[in-house]
Amino acid sequence: MATTIAITIILSVAILTTTSNEPWDKYRLPDTLKPSKYNVTLWPRLEKDDHGMYVFTGHSTVDFECVKETDMILIHSNKLNLTKFNGHHATLTRLDGAAAPAIKTTWLQETTHYLVIQLNGKLVQGNFYQLNTRFQGELADDMTGFYRSHYTEGAETKVLATTQMEPTDARKAFPCFDEPALKAVFHMTLIHNRNTVALANGMETETVNTTMEGVEVSITTFEPTPIMSTYLVVLVVCEFDYIRSPEGGKVLVRVWAGRQAIAEGQGDFALEKAGSFLEFFERYLNVTYRLKKLDHIALPDLGPLAMENWGMITYTEKDLLCHQNQTEEERHSVAKLIAHEVAHMWFGNLVTMKWWNDLWLNEGFATYFSCLGFAALEPDGKLTNQRVWNSIWGAFSVDAVAHSHPLSFTEESMNTPAEINKIFDSITYNKGASVLRMLSEFLTEPVFSKGLSNYLNEFAYKNTVSTDLWKHLQAEVDRTPTLQLPDTIEVIMNRWILQMGFPVITIDTTTGTIRQKHFLTGLESVVDRPSIYNYEWFVPVTWTKHGAPQDRKWLLSQSDVHKPTKTAEWMLANLNMVGFYRVNYDQGNWERLSAQLIRDHKAIPPLNRAQIVDDVFSFAKENIIDMVLALKTTRYLSKETEYTPWVLAHNHLRHYLKKFRHTKVYGAMQRYLRKQVEPLFLHFKNITANWTKIRDGRYDRFHMTAFTFACETGVDSCMDLSRDWFNSWMNNPQDNVILPNLRHTVYCCAVATGGVQEWDFVWQMFKNATDDARHLHYALSCTKDPQLLKRSLQYLLDPTMGHNISFERRIMETADLDNLQPLVWNYIRDNWSVLNDDHNSEFLPKLITVVTERLSTEFDLKQLVDFKAAHTATGSVAKALDQAIERTKANVKWTEENQERLFQWLTSAARQQ
Ligand SMILES: *[C@@H]1O[C@H](CO)[C@@H](O)[C@H](O)[C@H]1NC(C)=O
Ligand SMILES: *[C@@H]1O[C@H](CO)[C@@H](O)[C@H](O)[C@H]1NC(C)=O
Ligand SMILES: *[C@@H]1O[C@H](CO)[C@@H](O)[C@H](O)[C@H]1NC(C)=O
Ligand SMILES: *[C@@H]1O[C@H](CO)[C@@H](O)[C@H](O)[C@H]1NC(C)=O
Ligand SMILES: *[C@@H]1O[C@H](CO)[C@@H](O)[C@H](O)[C@H]1NC(C)=O
Ligand SMILES: *[C@@H]1O[C@H](CO)[C@@H](O)[C@H](O)[C@H]1NC(C)=O
Ligand SMILES: *[C@@H]1O[C@H](CO)[C@@H](O)[C@H](O)[C@H]1NC(C)=O
Ligand SMILES: [Zn+2]
Repeated sequence: MATTIAITIILSVAILTTTSNEPWDKYRLPDTLKPSKYNVTLWPRLEKDDHGMYVFTGHSTVDFECVKETDMILIHSNKLNLTKFNGHHATLTRLDGAAAPAIKTTWLQETTHYLVIQLNGKLVQGNFYQLNTRFQGELADDMTGFYRSHYTEGAETKVLATTQMEPTDARKAFPCFDEPALKAVFHMTLIHNRNTVALANGMETETVNTTMEGVEVSITTFEPTPIMSTYLVVLVVCEFDYIRSPEGGKVLVRVWAGRQAIAEGQGDFALEKAGSFLEFFERYLNVTYRLKKLDHIALPDLGPLAMENWGMITYTEKDLLCHQNQTEEERHSVAKLIAHEVAHMWFGNLVTMKWWNDLWLNEGFATYFSCLGFAALEPDGKLTNQRVWNSIWGAFSVDAVAHSHPLSFTEESMNTPAEINKIFDSITYNKGASVLRMLSEFLTEPVFSKGLSNYLNEFAYKNTVSTDLWKHLQAEVDRTPTLQLPDTIEVIMNRWILQMGFPVITIDTTTGTIRQKHFLTGLESVVDRPSIYNYEWFVPVTWTKHGAPQDRKWLLSQSDVHKPTKTAEWMLANLNMVGFYRVNYDQGNWERLSAQLIRDHKAIPPLNRAQIVDDVFSFAKENIIDMVLALKTTRYLSKETEYTPWVLAHNHLRHYLKKFRHTKVYGAMQRYLRKQVEPLFLHFKNITANWTKIRDGRYDRFHMTAFTFACETGVDSCMDLSRDWFNSWMNNPQDNVILPNLRHTVYCCAVATGGVQEWDFVWQMFKNATDDARHLHYALSCTKDPQLLKRSLQYLLDPTMGHNISFERRIMETADLDNLQPLVWNYIRDNWSVLNDDHNSEFLPKLITVVTERLSTEFDLKQLVDFKAAHTATGSVAKALDQAIERTKANVKWTEENQERLFQWLTSAARQQ
């Protein structure tokens, strides 16, 4: 599955645990029964029934073996109305024709999603049985299980039925043993309207027309699936069209979408990529794809971005289809997503984690191989070098907090659907991919890929835990005597997957020592999750001295101090950012690295230039190194034209711009950054014919970053350009020629430098806007006029004005805007009791956290403390206020300690050439 990973505010929730010891109160199935085959027939109704509801009906059988004697059957079933036979929800037969025990009683256990069947006699170990059910469920538009979704074609609204089973919703479509290790073969049949097509994991084998319950229908049957997990089942009924790979290929690849999109060629790009990734992975892994076909279908709604159902991958439309004007960057993200899902055909579908605690074996691999496949097939070498791997940085920031979690959990710690859903996060995806990249590098790629190939062959159609993987890689290492490792792969890797976090490697070039330490953000943060590895790692440290060929040393513990890195020249560690760790140096080496960057930055690889910037600012934020030292590494940026260093620099530097907003540092910093970014802006201006041709370019996000940063820091030609474009739009509102990628910045800049007229125009446009609303909303807050700002707040919070957005979302978004934040904070204090009465206990703490985030003066602090004293806040609101006070105190202290020196340095750096 591919999800957009959001940063969520973690609320501590007391979990009510049941004390019952009954099997039906436990979330895990007992180990008594093992399914082998399902036969499922479903009939989704794409019109409302007499009660105004969309439903599906179905019947299914499951054959299973009794592996441990029992007089009870537990099978998952959620929100299904089961038809009764002789008073029971199911019937049971024995497959060899002998009599099965009679059913004593059946009931539905709703919390744990079970159909419970108690028998009069025992099921016998080694015997096979068949359970038969008939049921009706709602075809809701809830994006889980078997669900419906809508789209328009011309003037018509069309309904389609589709599925999203991962992780625990197959049980919402038909009764099943819904755990990933309980694999079986699925025989599927769909009953559907004659004007629709029916699709599933296997190839359609037959469609016959008939009449059922007085309705003309088609019945489509499919080839049985391979042995697979329930969460990979897919069923679709729709009126889509498709394009396909040429006849004669080994695997049929099809792309399905609405008829118009297919006719316009919007699936062409995906079809080409889907075919080439499939071939690439087959070749790389030397393991064939097991089905005759692989469909890719573009749906109007899907919970995740895409889902890797075996044989038919579902995507949201915008993540699969490409129209002719799509930017190169958008095409890249489509390609990367396809690669991710296709990689799952091996990692996840053929070989599956035993239980969700090892989800990283699915998602880490899919993420790693999506980068690898993309890099291999992308002709532009520069891209492979840096942009592909920048997902690593996503994992660094979330894994550095004290309440992060290990990649792999214990099986017992994960039971409920809520617990399972929570681990589809950045750690699982990005850290998973990062540690695999590191592993591949120190094993060398031939050893890694051969070991994986053996692992996949050995565990095909089965389930694994991490140690199965280590065992097969180890066997390959043992066959490769030239490869020297400090210990077994299992010993090395356990430290990376069984404990959370990652190390910072500190290198002192004056003494030559290298040390490691757990890197944590928040100086006072306390780790209360013990690790049997004591937060030490086996770290493969690589480095170069002054560009010499790379050296390597394994760092095995905190007291393991080496001395190979003494040097008076610049030294750079973690080449190409292959290791999952940060690197800090002594001040002298930081100075030498900064000097080298200024002298000739190309001597240092682009990923490492990005790493340097990211590391120094992460350290400065924790007061590990001096802020001025961090800023020195940005001196060279006036010569930088690569993407990753700039994007990371922009993220960090604009954080400080915000932080200093109300201090004297702000102006000096703006002047310094203006000087740094202006050459990049002019460089792009030149090669894009005054920013008119950026849609042809490769680096759209980069262009956008450069443009935004230039206007934010007040580069004249950026502001002039923005005003010109905006004026011509004001003069001709029907025709907005401003490039969509730049609108956010252009609108803001025009309002910031304009007056009432510009503001009014934006407001008029905002009221009727669809696509652009987000940018216009932001632009309203860019005005410097206090009266207009007041009006902005008033309008934006007024539910009768403009868009159909909840008050909660409005105020939350508004509170995050630089100029409006102080006004929103006033508003919250003035309207506290109303807010307190009207909103639930999750909303206010979040709002407080957002609105107080940049408070940093003594005055702010006093206001906050007074506010807390004047109101009796309790629970999570009180906690949020306390945290806000703590954060503000730290901000005040930091600002007082640093602002003078920063001001001096920035002022002088802005003057130098
Ligand atoms: C599946 O069930 C249908 C009846 O619904 C039956 O006709 C068909 O033979 C069954 N298929 C298998 C493989 O058992
Ligand atoms: C299931 O049964 C309940 C109770 O009779 C009813 O309210 C509900 O609408 C039924 N759901 C479906 C999908 O038929
Ligand atoms: C079934 O009916 C549809 C629509 O009436 C028609 O297009 C299709 O050819 C028919 N299929 C068969 C197998 O008769
Ligand atoms: C690929 O796998 C086949 C058998 O599955 C084996 O004979 C062959 O040597 C493998 N090729 C490589 C390059 O490892
Ligand atoms: C693509 O761009 C052209 C020219 O700018 C425009 O006419 C066309 O409508 C655009 N197509 C889409 C699908 O956006
Ligand atoms: C502008 O671009 C052209 C080639 O596109 C190049 O020759 C020229 O040096 C560039 N000028 C500047 C100022 O970057
Ligand atoms: C870019 O704009 C400048 C004036 O700002 C103009 O002299 C130049 O010709 C323009 N270049 C292009 C390619 O349009
Ligand atoms: Zn995935």
